Amino acid sequence: MKSKQLPIAAGFLAGVLLLASGVQASEQHWNSTQNPVGISCATCHFDGYDLLVRGEYPHHNPLAGRHMTLLDSIRHCRQVSLKIDTPDNTVDYALFQFITTLKEYYDLSRSLANEP
Ligand code: HEC
Repeated sequence: MKSKQLPIAAGFLAGVLLLASGVQASEQHWNSTQNPVGISCATCHFDGYDLLVRGEYPHHNPLAGRHMTLLDSIRHCRQVSLKIDTPDNTVDYALFQFITTLKEYYDLSRSLANEP
């Protein structure tokens, strides 16, 4: 293995481990249809990558019409899109972890590919 390939391989491995640890537990919430509408986050956001390409939070949330943090946006979507009236901190933070881990992996992959 060439010397340049080592950090890339290590970064990739770190990404995979990062993804496997946090995401597995939270993924069930992402795919859960246990709500009054009977659809999941994945129904509208697929694998979640649509949420990663818009830069850092807080930023303008077009659904709410105002600036929001990531956690606010998750809560807003659970309430408005899934019609869940009672906020659940455990689920909110699990989804926060899911999206944050996905973003870390996404940023890492881009930096390893030397994309801007
Ligand atoms: C009925 C479709 C629908 C469902 C189901 C849904 N969302 Fe959304 N979500 C949207 C729309 C529409 C927006 C606003 C437009 C956009 O940013 O894509 C949005 C915005 C968001 C944002 C903010 C994106 C940004 O860049 O500001 C986050 C985070 C988010 N949703 C997370 C979730 C999570 C987590 C779930 C599951 C608990 C979920 N959404 C379920 C449709 C949905």
